[in-house]
Amino acid sequence: MAESWVNSAERIGADLYVELSGPGGRRAALIRALRDAVRGGRLAPGTRLPPYRSLAADLGMARNTVADAYAELVAEGWLTARQGSGTRVATPLNQWGNSAPRGAAARVPKKAPAPPRGPRHDLRQGTPDASSFPRSAWLASYRRALRQAPTEAFGPGDPAGRRELREALAEYLTRTRGVRADPERIVICSGFAHALRLLFPRVLRGPLAVESYGLGFHRELLAAASVRTVPLALDEDGAQVGGLDRERAVLLTPAHQFPTGGPLHPERRAAVVDWARARGGLVLEDDYDGEFRYDRRPVGALQGLDPERVVHIGSVSKSLSPALRLGWMVLPQRYVDAVLAAKGEREAWASTLDQLTLADFLASGSYDRHVRRMRQRYRTRRDRLVAALAERAPHIEVTGIAAGLHAVLRLPPGTERSAVKAATWQGVALDGLAEFRHPRATMSVPDGLVVGYATPSEHAYGAALEALCEALPPG
Ligand SMILES: Cc1ncc(COP(=O)(O)O)c(C=O)c1O
Repeated sequence: MAESWVNSAERIGADLYVELSGPGGRRAALIRALRDAVRGGRLAPGTRLPPYRSLAADLGMARNTVADAYAELVAEGWLTARQGSGTRVATPLNQWGNSAPRGAAARVPKKAPAPPRGPRHDLRQGTPDASSFPRSAWLASYRRALRQAPTEAFGPGDPAGRRELREALAEYLTRTRGVRADPERIVICSGFAHALRLLFPRVLRGPLAVESYGLGFHRELLAAASVRTVPLALDEDGAQVGGLDRERAVLLTPAHQFPTGGPLHPERRAAVVDWARARGGLVLEDDYDGEFRYDRRPVGALQGLDPERVVHIGSVSKSLSPALRLGWMVLPQRYVDAVLAAKGEREAWASTLDQLTLADFLASGSYDRHVRRMRQRYRTRRDRLVAALAERAPHIEVTGIAAGLHAVLRLPPGTERSAVKAATWQGVALDGLAEFRHPRATMSVPDGLVVGYATPSEHAYGAALEALCEALPPG
């Protein structure tokens, strides 16, 4: 057993690194980890610990176990528990102090511990709520997959991916995203970034049109493959696909423009497919968070309009965890062999056992249940963000909130940079929209902050919102 998590404790906002390792079960490991943190000065005297329920949820432990561990440390004198002020690290009164265990005062460093490194509140977009990973259901699928896997599954993997997974994905993507998916055209990969690496430059060449605002990481990855990217202007209806010219392909986020947040207008969806048909072009559809929609009708996958002209690319990075490194491409028939050749003779990226686990997770309905639960959770978080802003900063407009795991706060012109700086001062990590702008874009969207609301653990979210509101420019 060796597990570690980063937790943000409410109010104090201090990051707490808990490593559960060593003998004696999880309760003993937690006691040891907390005791070491106090002894080593990482948890300063007076620091308030997260409520045991929250810590239990973050660590995937039973509440009683965490409550027991706290009680044990209170009994030993490392912690104090008072009605109304929660559980705190005991303050050594003096060298013979009675609020810390004998000798503890001498062991707590005299010098104040260094402030926690990194931000206290992580509101950067990109990651789902890690504390909600469905550990039990995933483990159940893993067990079933392992039990049922045929012997050949333990040999070298097929570069197309396990058939079980391709079949489960075909069913799921057809049912929920309107993808015209056939298992024969699905190639498993380790996520969207890997899909780009497979496609460029071995299968496709540039120039590639991209949205004027998008992930810099993807642009860098394309540049490293010697692909010239051409920025397409954006407006409230999404990418201005009428601007496509001699590019061979275009990369879009049609369900939820990243990062500005709107769907591609239906007329533009039709227009980009017409462009691809007329010019022999190809549309790459990055469907990174298509499952998370709240107040609007589902936006189906663009690929459904023409599976021979659109490559549909998805992954579990937003729906489950980016740690799994599992994704897929639904390809036009004519590209399947070339992509398989780019992958090589054997599967070298996506673990066969993880693939079989995801296949079971999909087929057993666990994936649907998880997505439904997370949709509800993220909706609640989004609503809390909107309510906090309405109360504390009513002059700030929130956009892009109908779907996804992030929102865009529109700022008065010229205030974006100072707002990002102010957020840093408040211990909040987030990005301004300018961070996502293509260096050769000829247009700019108005100033704004991109706020990811999925990452903070449940008990730290209120404090994160508080700090965010403090950082916003006054009305
Ligand atoms: C715009 C965008 N596309 C795709 C992805 C998924 O990337 P990957 O599957 O490589 O983790 C993300 C992040 O999760 C993203 O923000």
